[in-house]
Amino acid sequence: MHHLARDPFAFHDRLEKYGQIVEYRIGNLNFCSVYHPKYAKQILITDSDDYTKFFADQFGGQDISPSGIIFTEGEQWRRQRQTLQPMFTRDRISEYTSIMVEYAQNLIREWDDGAVISLREEMSYLTLRIISKSMFDLEISERDNVIGRTTDALNERSDPRNLSSYLPRWVPTPTNLRFNRTASELQEKVDRIIEERTTSSERPNDFLDHLLSAAGTDGEGLSHEEIRDHLITFFIAGDDTTSLALTYTWLLLSQHPEKREKLDEEHEAVLGGDSPTLTDLQELEYTTAVAKEAMRLYPPAPQLYREAVDPVEIGGYQFPAGTVASIPVHKIQTDRRFFADPDTFEPERWTDEFETELPDCAYIPFGAGPRACLGKRFAMIELKIIISIIAQHVDFELLSDPDPEVRASLTLRPNEEITMRVRK
Ligand code: HEM
Repeated sequence: MHHLARDPFAFHDRLEKYGQIVEYRIGNLNFCSVYHPKYAKQILITDSDDYTKFFADQFGGQDISPSGIIFTEGEQWRRQRQTLQPMFTRDRISEYTSIMVEYAQNLIREWDDGAVISLREEMSYLTLRIISKSMFDLEISERDNVIGRTTDALNERSDPRNLSSYLPRWVPTPTNLRFNRTASELQEKVDRIIEERTTSSERPNDFLDHLLSAAGTDGEGLSHEEIRDHLITFFIAGDDTTSLALTYTWLLLSQHPEKREKLDEEHEAVLGGDSPTLTDLQELEYTTAVAKEAMRLYPPAPQLYREAVDPVEIGGYQFPAGTVASIPVHKIQTDRRFFADPDTFEPERWTDEFETELPDCAYIPFGAGPRACLGKRFAMIELKIIISIIAQHVDFELLSDPDPEVRASLTLRPNEEITMRVRK
């Protein structure tokens, strides 16, 4: 576990030497890591009914939003997925593109030429503003705010280097105290927002409004708790992941000026200095390839876990009920059997032909199967809008370590500050 914490990639490099399916124990848990897309497919898709999602008991997400869709199972999950799916169609998401455009433009305006910025902090601020406005019409104007602090606190609690990750939430370690405080602050804030909306005559066109008017499959509306839990879940699942994808995209582009030049050429040809519309996005093929390639090398959700409900078979081997199947996304996505020069940033590899030939589950930044990311479309649109707007106005000069140490907690976070000089 210690190794997994310090260098998540090296941990799996070592385990893989033992084979394509490797069983090991951590504490009283039986784990099984798989190193081939066909086993990832078996777990996530073919045999998905044999597994539930796995979250360590101590991880606090379930406590913050117990009936949020990322944590539920069985009939309750199926019902929720059916209810929420219509909120993530292309048409619905198109309602949020003007928010994405406006906030990306505002952020650029806040940076002076020559300014030195903490890239991760700036990208977090941007995605948080977008998601808060899209969710419940909330304008965030501070970089330090309760929603950002909650994702930080959750990551801290699921960081395997942290002692608190192995202790129940009531043990008063500094991490737990911080976590408990921010969790209740966030719940109260979202509660207040929902209450205010239900008593107000204003109906902004946001996620909250859709949730308030959504009827479950039984025709009943959603309860206050369900609405709150879904909103919080979207933050937990969608904010840090998107801002990390952007952070690593700029980190990679700043080290590959020839790729950056190609990106600029595409923007010039398709957008000519304008902000993109939803239709333009379809033409931004290289921009899409850049985002995909960045998430291949730095998957924001670095690890998928499933727990076997019954005894299971994976690749001909038997595993007892309770086994935690672990799918190391980075390892799978840098497998030289499927990706030539797997460690090289090569957006050009993403041709239609390449994608058609890629085996199922060889590229899974958004997961796969029934529990795949609900916000994928939202995220891809957001990434493309932000990349194309920022790239048309700003160059980044990397001032920090080009190969920062990363740490796999809930998300794949850089361990050190990534600093850039802004050139406008
Ligand atoms: C680049 C950004 C994103 C990445 C890389 C990402 C990745 C993922 C992954 C890997 C999963 C599956 C986890 C598993 O199988 O264990 C997932 C699930 C989910 N994501 Fe995302 N996500 C992103 C953005 C978003 C956004 C913006 C939203 C919402 C607005 C969102 C909402 C969800 C939800 C609700 C689930 C749970 C679905 C279910 O269990 O049925 N995600 N995401």
